[in-house]
Amino acid sequence: MNARVLIVASEAVPLVKTGGLADVITSLARSLRKRGIDASILMPGYPTALARATGLQDAGMLPDLPGGGRLLAGSMPGQDVPVILLRTPAFDTRHGNPYVDDAGTEFADNALCFGALAHAAVAICAGRTTLARPHVVHANDWHAGLVPALLRAAGIQGTGTLLTIHNLAFQGNYPMAHAALLGIPPEMRTAEGCEYWGQLSFLKAGIRYADCISTVSHSYAGEILTPRFGHGMDGLLSARRKDLHAIRNGVDTSTWDPATDPLIARQFGPLDMRGKSVCKRELQTLFGLPADPFAPVLALGSRMTHQKMADVALVALPEVLQRFPRAQVVILGRGDHGYEAGFAALAKHFSGRVGVHIGYDEQRAHALHAGADMLLHGSRFEPFGLTPLYSMRYGTIPIASRVGGIIDTIVDAGLSGTPCKEASGILFDGDAPSNMTAAVSRAFDLYVNPSRWHAVQCNAMAADFSWEQPVQEYIAVYRALASDDARALFDLPLISSDVQAVQYMTA
Ligand code: ADP
Ligand code: GLC
Repeated sequence: MNARVLIVASEAVPLVKTGGLADVITSLARSLRKRGIDASILMPGYPTALARATGLQDAGMLPDLPGGGRLLAGSMPGQDVPVILLRTPAFDTRHGNPYVDDAGTEFADNALCFGALAHAAVAICAGRTTLARPHVVHANDWHAGLVPALLRAAGIQGTGTLLTIHNLAFQGNYPMAHAALLGIPPEMRTAEGCEYWGQLSFLKAGIRYADCISTVSHSYAGEILTPRFGHGMDGLLSARRKDLHAIRNGVDTSTWDPATDPLIARQFGPLDMRGKSVCKRELQTLFGLPADPFAPVLALGSRMTHQKMADVALVALPEVLQRFPRAQVVILGRGDHGYEAGFAALAKHFSGRVGVHIGYDEQRAHALHAGADMLLHGSRFEPFGLTPLYSMRYGTIPIASRVGGIIDTIVDAGLSGTPCKEASGILFDGDAPSNMTAAVSRAFDLYVNPSRWHAVQCNAMAADFSWEQPVQEYIAVYRALASDDARALFDLPLISSDVQAVQYMTA
């Protein structure tokens, strides 16, 4: 018998994705399976997920959910990753963004929908479906935050629970009136339980009731214990710090590989960068810019939000474009409508120098990472930050905020003319437009020295952020959470003996 882990999340590529969570869920499941763990993903049966998953079969009815629910079990397309989809009338209607409508307003029934997802996990753990009961449930972000509380309320023993926080800013806080309908017992509706400033908080429920908590980088694990980055949960997290683990994310090195990427114009590698010039020309053309091989191309590719400093970039970029007359900017993203309009206006104003695509587009994302010279990635906070790591794989140098996971993954070139030996990017502090502009200037200064630039590119391309190490750390945590009789199942031969559950800090 293999160790079984049920990963509960709202997104997973290629079924549904709005951000890095979706990348992490699928590649974690795949990496666990490669190590012999029987990992499966439970997620909402959004219409695109139902359409893309393969071999779906009935896995049980859940008549007690509001409106009724049904589980369908199948696989990720073309991959050995089992996926279980919860089909409910409400999820059936979510054709676009899974959380908000076209106007950007949160769906009114989110609490009930994601509460239903947690109940589905409980039903699986209780053996009320045709699916095998997991030894550990790995809940991710607020969407799965109720799982540990509802398992406890149902008195289910023998299933360890881990909550991974990918982003503390999203908490799933809803009127407490929902609690009864969601099956949260009265004793859990208190400040010691799931209550957060009078509301029912899915994330707080997870933090409070999961056996263990983890987050996706070591630096973010430290930051979330402080008022500045704690989003009001720092006290609660500090109280649980002995159960808090820091396990960095991995990068899917096969999807993001310039040597094999089928989505880019010409493959390349550190020893032969000629393909990158072809990709640059393609990118310039794709974004309606002159194919000038000497123009430094600065790319932005992320959610257009306050977290990602979209507001700061909107002020800094005109300054950069004025200061560096040859620079070009390509922008790919979607998010807050005001920022989207701002970037569209920027492209209009700097026509022929700024190209913008508002929308979500996987192919364009690959073209952007492959073809740009630099990636501008401001963040007010960044739990991990996959995007700069993707760009680094393609020798595109990140200019990023010195926060969270960025601190752990990018080595700043330093202020002097010669970049430090390990430099893989440019980091900056602060969220003033001048902080961002100064960082871009440093990058441009480096760019004009090809041998120094290439040295930084080589470091960036060689940086190893694969899943190799983190997946072993997850298995060590799962092992610690499994019941006594199941623990040995997590003792896998490929795990090196020195990998332990990495506690962020002991009390
Ligand atoms: P976050 O999860 O906070 O958005 P990450 O950098 O960890 O930040 O992950 C973002 C993921 O979403 C990356 O895979 C990135 O390529 C992708 N992404 C973001 N915006 C877009 C877009 N407009 N088109 C395509 N991919 C996008
Ligand atoms: C979140 C974070 C991002 C992280 C991703 C995957 O959305 O904002 O930093 O990389 O989750 O963990």
